[in-house]
Amino acid sequence: MAQFSLNINAQTYNIDVSPDTPLLWVLRDTLGLKGTKFGCGKALCGACTVHLDGNAIRSCSFPVSAVKGKVVTIEGLSEKGDHPLQLAWQEVDVPQCGYCQTGQIMSAAALLQRNPSPTDKDIDMAMSGNICRCGTYLRIRKAIHTAAKGGADE
Ligand code: FES
Ligand code: FES
Repeated sequence: MAQFSLNINAQTYNIDVSPDTPLLWVLRDTLGLKGTKFGCGKALCGACTVHLDGNAIRSCSFPVSAVKGKVVTIEGLSEKGDHPLQLAWQEVDVPQCGYCQTGQIMSAAALLQRNPSPTDKDIDMAMSGNICRCGTYLRIRKAIHTAAKGGADE
């Protein structure tokens, strides 16, 4: 066990865990932030996506000892669930079962931070690591355009 001080959603958490504990385990089991989901556990599906200093990372495969910077989870993306992507997700009615969707939104948010007007190709590339078993890809793309351009989807 070792002590770590983590900045998550603009709060400081001091925790005592094994250094190789995946960040996802810390978020869900230690801190109770269960919006971030476990899917494959092997950095293959994107369900566990969070931000580290604005970049999308797979928290299932990111040891807590490697976390140097500010983490944002879906709980910290906006104060009232009103991030433009969250509003667009509702407008477009994106989710089916919902399981993959927090990871999808976090990847999309990282994309829009570095590219506020992505093309379909930009979106497909940025989102290619986020798997949706329900096949909501077209609605995800539409919602990203909606958030980026106020409804100007293609
Ligand atoms: S649970 Fe992390 S990528 Fe699948
Ligand atoms: S909405 Fe069901 S897995 Fe994506």
